[in-house]
Amino acid sequence: MSEKCCCGTDKCQDFKELDPVLDKYAKVPGSLITILQKTQDIYGYISIDAMNYISEATGIKTAKIYGVATFYAQFRLQPIGKYLVMLCQGTACHVNGSEMIEEAVCELLNIQDGQTTEDGLFTLNNVACLGCCSLAPVMMVKSADGDETYGNLTKDSVKEILTEIRERS
Ligand code: FES
Repeated sequence: MSEKCCCGTDKCQDFKELDPVLDKYAKVPGSLITILQKTQDIYGYISIDAMNYISEATGIKTAKIYGVATFYAQFRLQPIGKYLVMLCQGTACHVNGSEMIEEAVCELLNIQDGQTTEDGLFTLNNVACLGCCSLAPVMMVKSADGDETYGNLTKDSVKEILTEIRERS
């Protein structure tokens, strides 16, 4: 028989991967941001269930954890798509047309920056320099299969790349 969690569901069974993090940081003052970062690294986002689980281990109220998680732009509270499309908006990419690339991506996927497609396949995030400015404009597509970087993008090529990913998924 499964053990119920602090949130009253069996869901927190899924948070076992968080236990080593909580073992290390739960009782260390000032570690909430680190815990939240590691939670996001593991699950891709920070759910209310995860906050309840963290609350149980740290003694910090869920409302306070929620307040911290919503204060910092680095934290996502919604699940991300299978593919995280990181579109560079750094200076080199900007002067080489990243806005136009973003328009093409938004048009194709029918989402805006920070949103996820209805089919759960893509999440779009504008990001700062990806570190390969000579290939500007650039995007990186992150997934469980690894990270792929695409450079010298045009409106047509970015649409082709994303359509190809969609078709093989
Ligand atoms: S500015 Fe886009 S990769 Fe550096």
